[in-house]
Amino acid sequence: MCIFLLFLFPLSYVLFKKLLRSKSKLPPGPTGLPILGNLHQLGKFLHRSLHKLSLEHGPVMLLRLGVVPVVVFSSKEAAKEVLKIHDLETCTRPKMVAAGLLTYNFKDIGFTKYGEDWREMKKLVGLELFSPKKQKSYRYIKEEESDLLVKKLSNHAQTETSVDLGKTLFSFTAGIIFRLAFGHNFHECDFIDMDRVEELVIESETNVGALAFTDFFPTGLGWLIDRISGQHSKMHTGFTKLSNLLQHVINDHLKAEQPEDHLDLVSVMLDMINKPTKSDSFKITSDHLKGVMSDVFLAGVNAGVITMIWAMTELTRHPRVMKKLQEEIRATYTRLHPPAPLLLPRLTMSDIEIQGYNIPKNTMIEINTYAIGRDPKIWTSPEEFIPERFLNTSINYKGQHFELLPFGSGRRSCPGMALGITIIERCLLNLLYFFNWILPKGMTIEDIDMEELGSINIAKKVPLELVPTLHQ
Ligand code: HEM
Repeated sequence: MCIFLLFLFPLSYVLFKKLLRSKSKLPPGPTGLPILGNLHQLGKFLHRSLHKLSLEHGPVMLLRLGVVPVVVFSSKEAAKEVLKIHDLETCTRPKMVAAGLLTYNFKDIGFTKYGEDWREMKKLVGLELFSPKKQKSYRYIKEEESDLLVKKLSNHAQTETSVDLGKTLFSFTAGIIFRLAFGHNFHECDFIDMDRVEELVIESETNVGALAFTDFFPTGLGWLIDRISGQHSKMHTGFTKLSNLLQHVINDHLKAEQPEDHLDLVSVMLDMINKPTKSDSFKITSDHLKGVMSDVFLAGVNAGVITMIWAMTELTRHPRVMKKLQEEIRATYTRLHPPAPLLLPRLTMSDIEIQGYNIPKNTMIEINTYAIGRDPKIWTSPEEFIPERFLNTSINYKGQHFELLPFGSGRRSCPGMALGITIIERCLLNLLYFFNWILPKGMTIEDIDMEELGSINIAKKVPLELVPTLHQ
């Protein structure tokens, strides 16, 4: 261990000094420790720690995590320069160990580097899952799942019992996404238990978002610390569970012939794996299939569920808004609780200049939409839940307004945006149209806990339990 430290100190120092020498005007940032850099200044929630540091050091801030330079952007102007003007130079992803494991060595869309694989996979999934034609043909799935949701909630309303909204909305969203992408009706599937799937999604997401030392200390030290701390085995245990589930779904497809007129994403990709291709063209492998399934499994479900839970939490805390919204249903909640507050990390592919600062090639980039959503220069009373602030403005969530980026922006923005929004709108519409919501007996609005949980996607820690009552 000591030998590693002896090696690492001069290495990280030399690398960072080289970076400092290479350009005159690097962004400001907090002074770090020789080996750790600024790692010791990061708390449990990265988005909150980075927000706090940026209030002291500015909206373009340079940190060093181990030997890795990271620039954090926390203003609308800076985010716009990165995601719009320098999108092409920053649209690759850093290689992180946990992401590599869960995506079968970066054979997915979300974590793969910018290039042919990413383009081909995005095209394929765009056609087979997100296209308006596919969405139209799958409308009946959304309708069936909505009916099931309303039926479940009506039972609670009749018996006046509280419902754990997190579990109910997870089952609704996963029900739709898994039927669309994997062709499985999970309510009728014997090898899936929805509670275990929910645990697995949360476990996998926590693993993929956790900081692994291997990512920040490239010599053997990080590798060793991750093994000693148990991080390595935690990641591998989670991955094995996910892998078994995905393999189960694939085996099921291989066993039964799929109807020609109703091929889901898994069937289409299995078909492509077996088809001969020209030697120089892109070849889909079983790792691509599992990588994409992993993306759908992780990116497709939780972000939507988290958005809806935060929306219902804020609405319950603000009965005035709940009432108004029930009169005029609309969805404008993603500023205070963006489900992925730091988007996904980017990596610069060349030296660039942003807001007058030099950002060298191979710098990791984080866009803090949580900080932007709380910037008093943009929002009046930023911490307050006032959805009416969006009435009479042109601001929307689609990635052209850099003060509100729940789906990111540019080349690496969320390809599932339209599907995600349809699910959220449909679900909230059902929740707010058919039901009124009250807190369980003995609980007041002040008792609603607002603590967060998670790493990439930030969920509500304590389950939201409410009692629905039927609205005539
Ligand atoms: C309300 C629902 C959703 C929200 C809020 C959301 C949010 C996001 C965000 C913030 C990113 C990162 C963007 C960036 O780094 O600039 C992202 C990427 C991604 N999302 Fe979503 N998402 C949602 C639904 C979905 C669904 C339903 C799917 C698929 C079934 C999906 C698949 C993906 C993929 C594959 C990426 C990676 C794109 C790339 O790197 O090229 N998302 N999403």
